[in-house]
Amino acid sequence: MKTEKEILNKKNILSGMQPTGRLHLGHYLGVLTNYAKLQNEYNCYFMAADLHAMTAFYSDYEKAQEFLIPMISDWLAAGIDPEKAVIFVQSDVSEHSELALILSMYTPVSWLMRNPTYKDKQINIDKEIDSHGFLGYPVLQAADILLYDAEFVPIGEDQLPHLDLSRDIVNRFNHFNKHNQNNVFRLPKPLLSSFPKVLGTDGRKMSKSYNNTLILSSDEDSLMKEIMTMKTDTARVRLKDPGNPQNCPVFTYYDFFAKERKDEIADNCMKGSIGCKDCKNIVGSKIVVDLEPFRERYKEAKDNSQNINEILKEGAIKAKEKARETMQKVKDSMGFYLK
Ligand code: TRP
Ligand code: SF4
Repeated sequence: MKTEKEILNKKNILSGMQPTGRLHLGHYLGVLTNYAKLQNEYNCYFMAADLHAMTAFYSDYEKAQEFLIPMISDWLAAGIDPEKAVIFVQSDVSEHSELALILSMYTPVSWLMRNPTYKDKQINIDKEIDSHGFLGYPVLQAADILLYDAEFVPIGEDQLPHLDLSRDIVNRFNHFNKHNQNNVFRLPKPLLSSFPKVLGTDGRKMSKSYNNTLILSSDEDSLMKEIMTMKTDTARVRLKDPGNPQNCPVFTYYDFFAKERKDEIADNCMKGSIGCKDCKNIVGSKIVVDLEPFRERYKEAKDNSQNINEILKEGAIKAKEKARETMQKVKDSMGFYLK
């Protein structure tokens, strides 16, 4: 049975996020608001990538599972709507593992060794992750995308090498297997979000691994406290020193939360007539107030985990339906003996 969106010929989108920590402002401005928009225009599959999370959490996997309900609560709070999008957990749809195994036969090891995220993480992560599964991470990601015949994949730039690999795998698979003389898989395309990088409290890109995040679901006081400790223009030492807002991470938040005061603040900062504390207070209170409805929805969602379980169950049923269809096509094209 086709969904309403499929009947309307909407294109499919798949995106995934690993449940490996609490979501922060960077996720919100860069990813979640984008998901919430996309669900109105596309047939969206949004997936909690809990199998991918196993690469780093293999020894304490229950921790990754603990992040699952909070992450879905964040999604719901950001307006992702189970009536519009299919929200599901990767491990609930066993076809992900099955297709990943098949695709792995079409993926030369040298392609995976060249993958920049593989090289990076091996150097940077304190935990030992030199597993077969970690090397094959992009193969599982390709399976995620291909199972849903996704035309677009909304991702950040850091994920582009993974998508390129998916495309290489598609080409290789399609080269060897045809389904009624047609290609089995379509080539997925990236959908880069137009949001700029969100900076963290230390001025570097906001990221869990830098410990510089503003957690979306934190209460007002903790949020405000984090903002007050933020780095500013480091060249500005005394209140009367002229500052340079272009070198200040706090100032970047004005763009998102208090655009109407940007010019005035920049002016005063450069003249040395506003102190950083006041400046943080202004934008900080705006952030806290703007996120208040989010916090309320988050709390409501998280306190009602039975409802989330229902959403995920429903989502898994819908996802599985599509995934099974694809697997049938894959096996057919390869010449599996079908009973
Ligand atoms: N690798 C992605 C990340 O860490 C998560 C992910 C898993 C994903 N499967 C995906 C993203 C499929 C897009 C499409 O952010
Ligand atoms: Fe940054 Fe504001 Fe301080 Fe200027 S006044 S350096 S913009 S925090």
